[in-house]
Amino acid sequence: MIRVIAIANQKGGCGKTTTTINLGACLARLNQRVLLVDLDPQAHTTVGLGILPEKLDWTLYDLFCPEGKRRPTWEEVVLRLNPYLYLCPGDLRLHQFEEFFTTHSQKEKQLKYLLFFALSKPKPFDYILLDCPPNMGLLTHNALEVSQEVIIPIEPSFFSLHGLAKISETLQRVCEKRGRTHETNALLTLFETHDRFGQEVYEEVKKYFQDRLFHTVIHRDGILREAAGAGLSIVDFDPNSMGYRDHMGLATEILERRWRSEATALDTAEDDFLRRSVGPRRVSGGVLFQYLAPEAKEVFVVGDFNQWVGVPLLRRNGNGCWQKVVPLRKGGYRYKFLVDGEWQLDPGSSEKKENQHGNWDSYVEIND
Ligand SMILES: Nc1ncnc2c1ncn2[C@@H]1O[C@H](COP(=O)(O)OP(=O)(O)OP(=O)(O)O)[C@@H](O)[C@H]1O
Ligand SMILES: [Mg+2]
Repeated sequence: MIRVIAIANQKGGCGKTTTTINLGACLARLNQRVLLVDLDPQAHTTVGLGILPEKLDWTLYDLFCPEGKRRPTWEEVVLRLNPYLYLCPGDLRLHQFEEFFTTHSQKEKQLKYLLFFALSKPKPFDYILLDCPPNMGLLTHNALEVSQEVIIPIEPSFFSLHGLAKISETLQRVCEKRGRTHETNALLTLFETHDRFGQEVYEEVKKYFQDRLFHTVIHRDGILREAAGAGLSIVDFDPNSMGYRDHMGLATEILERRWRSEATALDTAEDDFLRRSVGPRRVSGGVLFQYLAPEAKEVFVVGDFNQWVGVPLLRRNGNGCWQKVVPLRKGGYRYKFLVDGEWQLDPGSSEKKENQHGNWDSYVEIND
């Protein structure tokens, strides 16, 4: 299922574009097919990925085709940045969008109609991220109309708190009018760990959004600004930076929600499967590691994919099955479980390889 996410906040400079580019690039790094749509006339997503709109023959504006010229095909407009990451570029002419469509009876559905073509092809994308302009105008309304989820980036300032009520109110109004709800999640951006005011804002936002605030926080990191200046995502600019870690954390958090629902489906539907085997399973974008241990207090999966530093598994339901999805690409991986401090091979898998110490590691191979 394609997931369409609008990145919106009428407050300027809160990190919408930075989130769009780098979340998109990190999801793509995790083998998700991602389309970024630059809905902002400032075209910062386009420029931030090293593309100059004035050098392009076509942009999103031409797909809307308000001037009655030939409408380009989707393929003529959308740029392939890497095998997993695509961009529908914007340009300054998007300023005229509102004026052209203002009296149109379907003015808030133009993007929906457009994406319909993209969405109708067999599984072209896993995620579509919409970078909205810093206002609640018609372009943002088009994004809200087509998206299932809204991410609201919030930078810690007094004004951002002030703006929260406004955007929440707008979202609610749009939902009421459309008769359907969005999943709305807040994301703390430009966060400075030692800033006391930042902490206070964090508490306020947490109170307001509760479990709809991402656990991941995007810290202030000058490298993100440098990456945008160089026209690269943080994945290509500096994968050792804090900006990379934060955005990868966000991408993983978003994927894990999806995986959690897949894993729950496995839990309930396949008790028999659990009894027979709980070995590793391929799920979208990663591998689900599982360990059946009803009595255990903690279970970690450790492997060469995480430099043998354990990541904890979550205990699911009452059946004692511990699970964790690890984003992994094609390749072969050695791993073990650490169950209450004891190293264990995976009892759910017979695949194993001898290691350099003369012991055995469990082994999983991912082929696609
Ligand atoms: N986490 C961060 N650390 C350091 N700089 C950042 C971070 N996030 C964003 N910036 C910088 O802050 C500025 C504003 O960010 P960005 O363009 O992403 O905000 P925006 O909400 O898209 O702005 P606008 O409302 O104008 O569209 C940019 O120069 C960007 O490089
Ligand atoms: Mg922007």
